[in-house]
Amino acid sequence: MRSVKGTRDLLPPETAVWQWVEATARRVFAGYGYGEVRTPALEPTELFVRGVGEATDIVGKQMYTFADRKGRSLTLRPEGTAPVARAVVQHGLAHGPLPLKLFYIGSHFRYERPQKGRYREFHQIGAELIGDPGPHSDAEVIAMLVRFLDELGFSDLVVLLNTVGDERSRAGFREALVEYLAPRRAELSAESRRRLEDNPLRILDTKSRRERRLLEGAPRLDDHLTQESRVHFDELRGLLDRLGVAYRREPRLVRGLDYYTRTVFEIVSEGLGAQDPLDGRGRKVGLVEERGGEDLPGIGFAIGEDRLVEVLPEASRERALPPAPDVVIPAGEVGAGGALVLAEELRRAGAGVVAELGGRSLRAALKQASRSGARHALLLGDEELAAGVVTVKDLETGEQRQIAREEVARWLTAGG
Ligand code: HAM
Repeated sequence: MRSVKGTRDLLPPETAVWQWVEATARRVFAGYGYGEVRTPALEPTELFVRGVGEATDIVGKQMYTFADRKGRSLTLRPEGTAPVARAVVQHGLAHGPLPLKLFYIGSHFRYERPQKGRYREFHQIGAELIGDPGPHSDAEVIAMLVRFLDELGFSDLVVLLNTVGDERSRAGFREALVEYLAPRRAELSAESRRRLEDNPLRILDTKSRRERRLLEGAPRLDDHLTQESRVHFDELRGLLDRLGVAYRREPRLVRGLDYYTRTVFEIVSEGLGAQDPLDGRGRKVGLVEERGGEDLPGIGFAIGEDRLVEVLPEASRERALPPAPDVVIPAGEVGAGGALVLAEELRRAGAGVVAELGGRSLRAALKQASRSGARHALLLGDEELAAGVVTVKDLETGEQRQIAREEVARWLTAGG
């Protein structure tokens, strides 16, 4: 039996890299006052249809949806924002002090063609700030994400920044865009022709060079921004300047989810050479209706952790791997039992050691310990046992010394 297509097992030592990335996220986000939320992997299908939008690819063709034994339609979460919003409403969190600052780390599911970096079960690290409409929150969320990526060791981070305006800005722009594209319908791909009907702004996201050229003459959202949206955007840019966060205006950036409004952003690491974003997201409305039906605005992001780990700089990857423990190798009558007892004794005293349990010969055990990356082998034979000492062998230099058994842990933890 093999794992389901598009899913995979994460195995050691790679899982140590994942743990390090996640520990970094927890540390950095906590520093900005965020608490972790863990929502179920299963939600009512309706949550995503309403929250993410019927016209999006996610809801239209990528959801793992099925009927449970009682015929209720359930969906494996394809994204994290709608579940967080549901949890906020369900638990009345918005009745407390605002803004709420929540982050999540976990598996998400989308039925899409598996390829490098894209999976059917994938992992997101996301954060949501809920309950404040101002540009300060946008600036702080963006700064936090940059901080996180910086701590992961990515270099030359640039925020690609845009505004998609508010509902009123977009309505006018949508109309102008459709007016421009409709007579040019024949030059559009089948996909874009469909979008022209149900979600014309998504066409701006196109990767096709021909369509990009066509769009060069298209109306610009900027010309349709309401005064309020423009002020919000200008203030945000001013704040990013003051925070020393590098950004670049990217007028073509629109995020495909229905709930986005105003600020949208992506972050690229120019040091990576690749222009693929490390993440992307933005501000949204219409998700949390609380406080007497009043909408609570928010801003958030989700990073694809799978890709993040794949492109993690080599130096960070090395830092993430825990040091290999030293190995207690038994000889003669001492046996694995004796090694086990000494290893347990040393661990209790704070040393990082494991016992050799493979029943190998001394030679093979030393070779295996070296290969594991251990710094020392701790040899325990009948003579050592009788004399109350341990022979400590430096696996790099080959140097050996005998140390009193009760001194070994102290010697090792002091750095050997
Ligand atoms: P999204 O752009 O759909 O946004 O997904 C966020 C990230 O998840 C993507 O940039 C990508 O790295 C990763 N991702 C998506 N699908 C896959 C896949 N099949 N395999 C691997 N990685 C994948 C959202 O999900 C929004 N909820 C983000 C958000 C939070 N907006 C506001 N708050």
